[in-house]
Amino acid sequence: MKIERIAGWNTATRSCWERYSAHRENLMRLIRQHAVTRGSITILGAGNCNDIDLAELFNLFSVVNLIDIDLKSLEYATCRYPISGNNFNLIVSDISIPPKIEPCLIRSSDLVLSACVVSQLVAQEDRNHRDLSNEFFRNIWWNHFDWIEILTSPNGRALIISDVGMVLNRCDIEDNIDRRINIARFAGVDSIAINRNLLDHPKSRSTFYPPLKLTDWNWNQSDRGLLFVEAYRLERVLCRYHV
Ligand SMILES: C[S@@+](CC[C@H](N)C(=O)[O-])C[C@H]1O[C@@H](n2cnc3c(N)ncnc32)[C@H](O)[C@@H]1O
Repeated sequence: MKIERIAGWNTATRSCWERYSAHRENLMRLIRQHAVTRGSITILGAGNCNDIDLAELFNLFSVVNLIDIDLKSLEYATCRYPISGNNFNLIVSDISIPPKIEPCLIRSSDLVLSACVVSQLVAQEDRNHRDLSNEFFRNIWWNHFDWIEILTSPNGRALIISDVGMVLNRCDIEDNIDRRINIARFAGVDSIAINRNLLDHPKSRSTFYPPLKLTDWNWNQSDRGLLFVEAYRLERVLCRYHV
């Protein structure tokens, strides 16, 4: 079952706070740059929150919404902090399918962050990646976009952080004398896929400007190899008034 597989991944990375530190610092820098003073933030794929410093988030924002399919990981993430009195919401939803959120459950946010969840939306499908069609990737991006769209306030912004590939193991990084560096590009999550699939979405042009690539970084996970991460920003199209 999909949820069991995802929960298994989260259990395996539960105690990896240190391994995430350089990646977390890159991600937090982007959040600081885009934070609205005492505003609100919603995080898609928050999970264990190893890539987010929740203590800092509660200082930066007045409302923090954490969305994930795996409740246990959200509970684990938040039980590490003395957060009574903070205005935070844990929301269990599957963002691989179109959103069905009760409007009263969550209000739109000044900042929405997609935290390395897109590659998992692809990987969790029990299929051989070579068999995945363009339509499959388009559906993932469109559903993901629909979530971002309903969760981002009219003047808000969204950040999409995505792991897009990796060097398969550390031996290959250090011992590349024979040029056997083994790079895997994850299917359907790179800038070409983001641009193609988001710009094709019927509502994309009227609601957001085209995705802007902000930066990228390499994340050395020592035992697991080197991950490539890219960061994009979606900015709301300013309201047009007709007189
Ligand atoms: C690679 S992890 C991201 C790292 C995570 N933010 C952390 O710091 O541990 C991807 C997260 O997306 C969540 N996720 C995967 N598929 C999902 C889905 N279909 N709907 C909602 N969340 C999903 C996973 O449970 C996991 O917490």
